[in-house]
Amino acid sequence: TAPLRIALAGLGTVGAGVIRLLEANGDIIAARAGRALQVVAVCARDRTKDRGIDLSPYAWEDDMTALAARDDVDAVVELVGGSDGPALALARNALNSGKQVVTANKAMIAHHGMELAALAEGKGVALKYEAAVAGGIPVIKGLGEGAAANRIDGIYGILNGTCNYILSQMESTGADFGDVLKDAQDLGYAEADPAFDIEGVDAAHKLAILAALAFGTQLDFAAVDISGITKIRAADIAQADALGYVIRLIGVADCEDKGGERFLFQRVQPYLVSKQHPLASVDGPTNAVVAECNFAGRLLFEGAGAGDGPTASAVVADLIDIARDRVAPPFSLPVSALQSAAPADPGHR
Ligand code: NDP
Ligand code: HSE
Repeated sequence: TAPLRIALAGLGTVGAGVIRLLEANGDIIAARAGRALQVVAVCARDRTKDRGIDLSPYAWEDDMTALAARDDVDAVVELVGGSDGPALALARNALNSGKQVVTANKAMIAHHGMELAALAEGKGVALKYEAAVAGGIPVIKGLGEGAAANRIDGIYGILNGTCNYILSQMESTGADFGDVLKDAQDLGYAEADPAFDIEGVDAAHKLAILAALAFGTQLDFAAVDISGITKIRAADIAQADALGYVIRLIGVADCEDKGGERFLFQRVQPYLVSKQHPLASVDGPTNAVVAECNFAGRLLFEGAGAGDGPTASAVVADLIDIARDRVAPPFSLPVSALQSAAPADPGHR
């Protein structure tokens, strides 16, 4: 069978991780995909940067528009980042050219997911974003496929590895917020602009995506009520500890039907978590997502939420799906079937 030919845009933490993973596990991946996954062309800002990987087997494209239009490419992987700008142009161009698209970009999906999903459906190609939520945890497939038979009544969890790393390091070492944030950046967990992490916006992007998928509603990032962790001090963590709690940044969403209307509640904020609760022991860059399902019961997904290896694992899993011709609607339902929901007033919950 012909290989799946891939163009890779972005060779930073995740992009370089994808190249390393494809090289290390090529045989396993080809066996499971039923054909080889072959990177044909790559693109980043700086061609001369030492990335610790051999790029000589791949064509270099300076221009992302040209990358999206290449005739020798079946699937485009977007690992550039940013909700708009070059990432969005690349995704639009690639879908319009009938290419399959894989992305780890939760900001882009949270803001433009409906438009991109409609474009993908119209062209009959895949738009896949497993890596965009909770890094290496297969929570998009878990909810969209594994739990597909259930009504999901609520969803909550730890959705940002950087914040969880900061809070758990402050807790265990008493270190300062700023120093731990620097470590999270050095370890490749943080966004290019870490304000997205610590102000709760990244977790909100992910929560909005999960809510759309879990409840069959249209994406509504603007309605997420967001507070980050920038005001948490060592003294708050010590006080919580004395009371039997830890502090975690948690995203919570549920959807209620009232009087024939649907109301979607979405909030990200620091919560006090009892030390007895499973989320209290989720440390470091780990994420955990809990889904309350009406037949499967409570599902808990836990694993590495950030970093090159786990995120690359999710990106390549999407490519394997594409290689197997698994092209489902990106939000499990056709975009036209996603229901609208009014934002539930967070003040009345
Ligand atoms: P990096 O900042 O490490 O890498 C971004 C890459 O994009 C770099 O190679 C950069 O080029 C390239 N790039 C940026 N702007 C342009 C442009 N205008 N034209 C061409 N190339 C460009 O980011 P990450 O790898 O950490 O993240 C990539 C995506 O994955 C983001 O959407 C992020 O949110 C998401 N993600 C990241 C995770 C993580 O743990 N890091 C986990 C899950 C998702 P150059 O190297 O030359 O500067
Ligand atoms: N910056 C993100 C985080 C990367 O820390 O969770 C994974 O999406």
